[in-house]
Amino acid sequence: MTDFLVTNKMKKKDFIQHRTPFYSYDLKLLKETLEEAKSAAKKYDYHIHYALKANSNDRILKIIHEKEFGADCVSGNEVKKALEIGFPSSKIAFAGVGKSDEEILIGLANDIFAFNCESIEEIDVINQLAKGQNKMARIALRLNPNVDANTHKYITTGLEENKFGINSWELNNLIDRLPSWANIELTGLHFHIGSQITSMTPFKNLCIRVNEFNTWFRERNIHIQHLNLGGGLGIDYHEPEKNPIPDFELFFGVFNQFLQPFSHQEIHFELGRSLVGNCGSLNSRVLYIKKGIKTNFAILDAGMTELLRPAIYQAYHFIENVTSKSENKEFYDVVGPICESSDCFGKKIELKETKRGDYIKIHSTGAYGEVMSSKYNLREQNPVFYIE
Ligand code: LLP
Repeated sequence: MTDFLVTNKMKKKDFIQHRTPFYSYDLKLLKETLEEAKSAAKKYDYHIHYALKANSNDRILKIIHEKEFGADCVSGNEVKKALEIGFPSSKIAFAGVGKSDEEILIGLANDIFAFNCESIEEIDVINQLAKGQNKMARIALRLNPNVDANTHKYITTGLEENKFGINSWELNNLIDRLPSWANIELTGLHFHIGSQITSMTPFKNLCIRVNEFNTWFRERNIHIQHLNLGGGLGIDYHEPEKNPIPDFELFFGVFNQFLQPFSHQEIHFELGRSLVGNCGSLNSRVLYIKKGIKTNFAILDAGMTELLRPAIYQAYHFIENVTSKSENKEFYDVVGPICESSDCFGKKIELKETKRGDYIKIHSTGAYGEVMSSKYNLREQNPVFYIE
């Protein structure tokens, strides 16, 4: 991976000098976003774990670690990466519906903050492995609150029909088994209802369900030390330059208003997209303008291998022709070079009149962009620019 540092806002000559496609990150915006999230959370003494899955680029992780966020990991390699960057193990949560034995052992060896557990079967395995290592494993139960996040069906997770979390009807069985798990300490309850949620209503509904679960455990004299409400706060993909930073005050304010924790309980969140989404862009060049029957195609040198979201979720990203001097605007289907019809960044996208060689910026690719890239079609690995 080649890294470049650009000290000012990116200029035309910076684009032209380097081979496209490449990712760029606005580190100033990243830092501002982190500061806003941190100060909004501090108001209520909330703890934020950064969800590494959104972007595990080293340089970005170092900045997030410097700002003293915790880490939320979904694989053994993410746990290792968080430790390597310097996140303290006491701030590392390890989630995921299918943790392998090897991955669980990494968490145990490092005495992480908590395993977020998704099934009774998983708790059984963690208990056995912890016993073998003579350790106590701290766990949080990921409960399925059956709350609709009203987001894309592929990124909704909190419904009973989803594979995630333990369903409420399993809880009696689970707590009956609790005393037999000698190497398990139940410390928390964990929830995550989905991603790219822009209305506060699902979060309010989540609070109501969490209060019910929390009371249910208390009534059974089970001492819960922390509540982890997951991530999910969305960003503005349509006007990223107007609203680069999500409204963290509003988001945390909803939890402050509707969540009723018991006095000793810590409140944790796992934010990914909202912290990094708008600081990244994918930069590309037009290879060809191809005239179709109904539409003109702008064929870019970036494709679904660099940004998968439009292909698999029909996700919208704001696309801009940075170099065209034309006063005219036209509509294009903006597509990539990959041999798949779904390799399309958007249909009927209005751009300044576009020609071969123009530079195209696809905005808001900081989350689930670079991390979801692939080598399909034996594509090159792309350089990364950091703008300070
Ligand atoms: N916690 C858990 C348990 C999660 O599953 C996720 C995301 C997060 C936290 C962070 O959520 P965020 O704050 O980023 O919404 N690839 C999809 C998004 C998948 C989200 C997976 N889970 C996309 O590009 O939209």
